[in-house]
Amino acid sequence: MPHVFSPYPAIALLALLLPAGASELPGPADAAPDLAPLPGRLSETGLYEPGSLRLSPAVQAFTPNFALWSDGAAKRRWISLPPGTAIDRSDPAAWQFPPGTRFWKEFSHAGPVETRLIERLADGTWRYASYVWDSTGTEALLAPAYGVLRMPVSGAPGGVYDIPSEEDCRMCHEGGPVPVLGFSAAQLSTVDDTPMPGNETLARDALGYLHANCAHCHNDRGPLSDIDLTLSVADGADRILQTLVDREADTAVQSLRVRVVPGKPGDSQLVARMKSRNPNHQMPPLGTRVTDDVAVALVERWIEQLTAPEGN
Ligand code: HEC
Ligand code: HEC
Repeated sequence: MPHVFSPYPAIALLALLLPAGASELPGPADAAPDLAPLPGRLSETGLYEPGSLRLSPAVQAFTPNFALWSDGAAKRRWISLPPGTAIDRSDPAAWQFPPGTRFWKEFSHAGPVETRLIERLADGTWRYASYVWDSTGTEALLAPAYGVLRMPVSGAPGGVYDIPSEEDCRMCHEGGPVPVLGFSAAQLSTVDDTPMPGNETLARDALGYLHANCAHCHNDRGPLSDIDLTLSVADGADRILQTLVDREADTAVQSLRVRVVPGKPGDSQLVARMKSRNPNHQMPPLGTRVTDDVAVALVERWIEQLTAPEGN
């Protein structure tokens, strides 16, 4: 039985009924898409050469320095730009992408499960879609905009997998100055000269992880900036520490009142939030059912060697 479609026999039909249903596809070489609806099939989005699963020469693979934890799924990512266009990199914290830019991200457990698409439209807005693979790995169909909860997928933790809703995509992708999260100066640079307090390598790895997994919501520029908690390396290591170290949290979790207590990971709310998978407490709040134990250990080691900044 096809593991992906069995509980949702109408998924293909649903895809057709969505406002953005199956359609003519703009290939990557076409002008910036205007109001063309989303293609119903992944093979029509310009990722592959027509009629095959060979990657199109118009797409370029990339890997961010620090990845988002997705419950152990393997991931691949690609970008395509319309011919003759370029990325405006003048603001290193907010690269601007030309209309027609597309990004894909593929998630696999035993085989491919889901491929997500982000596309910049002619009017400057971004749209989000997810394509769900069939069990044979030959085609992926547009998922409903409200997502798919607890889809049976062999190889996924607990045998289930969630396709995020479009609203979930926007929650993570639109919490900062640009919706593109893994293709940025901070995520693609190989050399970072920002001075870091304490153990440099440990700090870079810990802050890099927090940047990739938390900064899309916790930063100084987005809608959650009122919390006054930034985990974005674009805001600078000093500013991150200023919002963490010996800072009272607004919300007590397991009676841990302080965000980060230098030298004491066990007393730090940040760690408790990362360990939790209680939906009311867990961080990040979306996209994961399983704690990232390796990352928790990394952040604990980093907090262990932190000392309170001078002047505190
Ligand atoms: C839990 C937060 C979260 C949710 C929910 C989420 N994303 Fe992402 N996404 C990220 C982060 C962080 C990255 C960059 C790091 C990485 O790729 O590992 C990313 C990367 C991507 C990329 C590669 C381009 C880029 O921004 O780096 C695409 C494409 C993408 N996501 C599409 C989607 C779509 C479509 C949805 C909804 C169906 C979605 N994402 C839901 C956090 C999220
Ligand atoms: C999808 C958006 C989102 C992501 C991603 C996210 N958070 Fe949060 N975080 C929130 C929201 C909303 C709150 C406030 C509600 C609450 O306290 O649960 C919050 C609150 C917190 C708090 C408590 C702050 C206080 O003063 O009470 C901490 C600590 C925290 N997050 C850490 C993290 C860490 C660490 C990560 C990454 C591992 C992360 N968050 C990822 C949305 C997010």
